[in-house]
Amino acid sequence: MIDRLEAIQKEAHEAVQTAGDLKTLEDLRVKYLGKSGLVTEILKGLGQVPAETRPQVGKACNEMKNKITLQLDLKREELEGKGSVVTPREWDPTLPGRVTPLGKTHPLTAVQKEICDIFKGFGFDLAEGPDVESDYYNFLALNFPPDHPARDAQDTFYLGRDVLMRTHTSPIQIHVMEKFKPPHKFVAPGRVYRHEAIDATHHHLFHQVEGFLVDEGIHFGHLKGILDSFIKKFFGPRIKTRFRPSFFPFTEPSAEMDISCVFCEGKGCRICKQSGWVEMMGCGMIDPAVFKNCGIDSEKWTGFAFGMGVERVAMFKYDVDDIRLFYQNDLRFLKQF
Ligand code: PHE
Repeated sequence: MIDRLEAIQKEAHEAVQTAGDLKTLEDLRVKYLGKSGLVTEILKGLGQVPAETRPQVGKACNEMKNKITLQLDLKREELEGKGSVVTPREWDPTLPGRVTPLGKTHPLTAVQKEICDIFKGFGFDLAEGPDVESDYYNFLALNFPPDHPARDAQDTFYLGRDVLMRTHTSPIQIHVMEKFKPPHKFVAPGRVYRHEAIDATHHHLFHQVEGFLVDEGIHFGHLKGILDSFIKKFFGPRIKTRFRPSFFPFTEPSAEMDISCVFCEGKGCRICKQSGWVEMMGCGMIDPAVFKNCGIDSEKWTGFAFGMGVERVAMFKYDVDDIRLFYQNDLRFLKQF
């Protein structure tokens, strides 16, 4: 029975393919699917088929009917000239093309690069270090005493007793001093991690650019000059800088650098809380204790270091008031840069 069905189907397929006009095609439809057509007759006679093979034969019959119907339909479309192939006349060259969406650099990546490029222009090299650090590089070598609060698990993500996610990019100073002899002059961008509650100005992951310069005869005036030039290149020549005394274990003296508010140019506004100044970064002269940890003679060499938060710089550059926006990857936000 199944063999017979296959033979009919093959015969029907060949006949349909060679049909040259609609009349022949209609005759074929009647021959196979008409009231007393071949396929119809077989379907009618299904009752005589032994019960065990009936479901199988019935299924094959229906498939055959569907196939022949489809072939007839396709052939009819072809003969009627309604094929699915687009003829040249139907192609409209005035329709707008399809736009391929293009990605672009994330604002944080762009700002980080802009910062580093300015320092490269001042002759600084680029350095980097690992995100996972030991207590030694992140704290001890940088002159943090063993009981310093920053070492508290409240502020630091520990992976083991002595292994942690770096809380700042300053450990890169130590790696570079261990590997190379002075003089040094580099900037080092990277991710840093702090065990902090997230809000509009804090995130547990953010980015810093570290700066480091060691040579003979380097003094605080060099630090001020370089950072002031950087700010004027980045934010524009009208922005002023000022340095306030501060404290970091690895710099002495240490300072906090403020810049005149980029929004009100020092007149006082909501962003600078009417003070005219905003805090920009920590900096200072390298503490002789840090030189000693790296076997460098602090009588001969002096230098300065600074560290700035990329998010903070980007928030001032683009007037973004919530750090979380940089991490939500909402295209409506990202498209603006
Ligand atoms: N590492 C400091 C911080 O994360 C910033 C800093 C870097 C300060 C270099 C002074 C010198 O807060």
